[in-house]
Amino acid sequence: MSVKEIFETMEYGPAPESAAEALAWLVDQGARFGPFIAGSFAPPGILFETRNPATGEVLASITQATQDDVEAAVAAARRAQPAWEDMGGPARARFLYALARLLQKHARLFAVLETLDNGKPIRESRDIDLPLAVRHFYYHAGSAQLMASDRAAMGVCAQIIPWNFPLLMLAWKVAPALAMGNTVVLKPAEWTSLTALLFADICRQAGLPDGVVNIVTGDGRVGEMLVQAEVDKIAFTGSTEVGRAIRTATAGSGKALTLELGGKSPYIVFEDADLDSAVEGLVDAIWLNQGQVCCAGSRLLVQEGIAEQFHARLRARMDGLRIGDPLDKCIDVGAIIDPVQRDRIAQMVAGSDGTIHQTAACPEGCFFPPTLITGLSSASPLMQDEIFGPVLVGTTFRTPSEAIQVANDTRYGLAASIWSENINTALDVAPKLAAGVVWINGSNMFDAAVPFGGLRESGFGREGGPEGLAAYTRPVRAPERLAPIAPLAGDESEPQPVDRTAKLYIGGKQARPDSGHASNVFDAKGRLIGQAPIASRKDIRNAVEAARAASGWAAAPAHNRAQVLYYIAENLHARAGSLAALIDRLTGGTDGADEVSLAVSRLFSAAAWADKFDGRIAQAPLRGAALVTRAPCGVIGAFCPDAGPLLGLVSVMAPAIAMGNRVVLVASEPFPLAALEFAHVLEGSDVPGGVVNILTGPHADLAPTMAQHMDIDAVWSFSGADISEAIEQGAAASLKRSWVNDGLARDWWSPEGEGPEFLEQATEAKSLWIPWGA
Ligand code: NAI
Repeated sequence: MSVKEIFETMEYGPAPESAAEALAWLVDQGARFGPFIAGSFAPPGILFETRNPATGEVLASITQATQDDVEAAVAAARRAQPAWEDMGGPARARFLYALARLLQKHARLFAVLETLDNGKPIRESRDIDLPLAVRHFYYHAGSAQLMASDRAAMGVCAQIIPWNFPLLMLAWKVAPALAMGNTVVLKPAEWTSLTALLFADICRQAGLPDGVVNIVTGDGRVGEMLVQAEVDKIAFTGSTEVGRAIRTATAGSGKALTLELGGKSPYIVFEDADLDSAVEGLVDAIWLNQGQVCCAGSRLLVQEGIAEQFHARLRARMDGLRIGDPLDKCIDVGAIIDPVQRDRIAQMVAGSDGTIHQTAACPEGCFFPPTLITGLSSASPLMQDEIFGPVLVGTTFRTPSEAIQVANDTRYGLAASIWSENINTALDVAPKLAAGVVWINGSNMFDAAVPFGGLRESGFGREGGPEGLAAYTRPVRAPERLAPIAPLAGDESEPQPVDRTAKLYIGGKQARPDSGHASNVFDAKGRLIGQAPIASRKDIRNAVEAARAASGWAAAPAHNRAQVLYYIAENLHARAGSLAALIDRLTGGTDGADEVSLAVSRLFSAAAWADKFDGRIAQAPLRGAALVTRAPCGVIGAFCPDAGPLLGLVSVMAPAIAMGNRVVLVASEPFPLAALEFAHVLEGSDVPGGVVNILTGPHADLAPTMAQHMDIDAVWSFSGADISEAIEQGAAASLKRSWVNDGLARDWWSPEGEGPEFLEQATEAKSLWIPWGA
């Protein structure tokens, strides 16, 4: 094209980035890679090819790791871990800083290699993936430096990542893990291992001790081996289906787990939005990385009055998108990761019954045109299922409340974008969206200081910020195994004076158990004290229904929730004598008075925290700031500890309700009556009906129902019964959060029985990106 012609058409000329350096690096390595174990590359084994999706050319051959490779990598990580942890945060900070510097120094090589292997436009790998990855290592150099002295490393972390942001996902996983003194075995996705292997080279250059970072390559089978290996923590990003399989496979194993899964994030455009900005934001939201983004704004919800106009502007913008050679710096949309994925996208689009508009200029090969499908109903499969490609599906809404309802009509809960020039509309809608990240007048903004992660089937756990670090540490204390406590026995045959048959406490009222059954409770002398109901699945359902109905509690100001907690404390104190006597009778001990007194103190602590565990403003380099808020989980089902039948229950209940949750508590199994007596205290304490529900009965029988219940948002267990596995198994279907004791003890009489750990578990960190003058 001549200069004259360029001036006439204003067409962009080609501006290809050179691949020479990246290809030379591959040649230097022999274009064949073994796994990276204990500081060096093992000889290549059985190989598979990795291709450039834009051209189909083979870039290199990579080893499908074997069971032996995985074991060797985990063993190397295990050997390296104690010294890595013991060197201390400041020493580790130096290494993280060196990794950041080296990534920065080799940024161009990394960016080109990423684009070659993944097909994403060089503009994105150069200007988004690389700077964010570098920033992650810098940020976590700081996290290592400042690591709290009461936290210890988890140990060896297995990290399994997808192909859409290969280096960035590596950085999100590796940097916080190393900062906190863990060692890692990372498995990149089989389509995109090259930048991880280049990173291994960088680790050597940084002088990282051998075994601190290990990389095993291969497909999902290698991932499965790694999940089964002797690791302490698993961090996974990928499909919901595989996430669920990992939750099931690790249930009861004691391995910590975080899952960052799929999404179908709403992109909500109100009629008072700046429409041109909203169109431009959409280009980022759905066409970044060809839409292969877990938090892509893939569901467009436009207010009815502007829908036609907005869709017209969007179609015009789509027609201007440039699709083609990802190495060309002027390209907006690159190649799809693999023909398999392109065909999957095409098949989903072919099944659509909406109105389709596609960008016309799309090259042959592994490309898919940016696509808009409008006129769908919210229930349509394309509005519900993750497409993971450059396909935007849309519908309209009339009012803000309808927008919220349609936005939340999804099994996912990862991210959302809101577009409105009206601060009232935007900030009113934002907290009502079921999503871990909300962008106001923006989309796809990320930063190492800002937690990222989802709810519901988008997984659990956060990456980034101090919230993300929590997943890579544990308290320093080494817990002991729980010793089972048997209930006190008595003579069942002898007729004995019964004080009272206690009832369950559901929806603020005494409720007979559905089964009509109760079990006898005896004192240390074998005398019958009373009877405790045996709750059934139906009672759990009733309790959950009551808890759901009490949603107003979440919206109550923290100050008011604190007042209720203080009032409970006051009333508990007033009944201290009788409760202490009951506890002593139930347990055969003499600590009843101390237990009641400490329970009162726990209520005071929770009341104190209610308006103090309140999030922060994260200093992200983009547009100034993000609010990190703490939203209640919703309805929490909890199995209370056996020991300390009142203290345990209060320690579990108080922080949960302080944060705005409603709870379904299953009382101490051997000593259930203290909890039901405590229900009388609740009755007189202004606790709205349904906020606290108390059941009694065998924990093992109730655990699966509680874990599987679709309207419970999180399940906790401090039970002496062996139910951790049942809970983690049951929670896999809905991917709800669980917090279980794995049969390990907690000293409820010590500070271990309260504090931020409980408050973190009782809340979801929600990052709210807002325009912020800076
Ligand atoms: P995937 O979930 O199968 O793969 C992600 C990672 O997990 C890869 O490293 C893979 O090798 C590994 N893996 C696969 N099976 C495993 C198993 N049983 N145990 C342990 N690790 C295993 O995702 P895939 O097949 O690449 O993509 C399929 C769909 O998943 C996409 O169309 C998209 O909808 C979704 N996806 C979502 C991502 C996200 O960031 N949320 C990322 C990638 C895919």
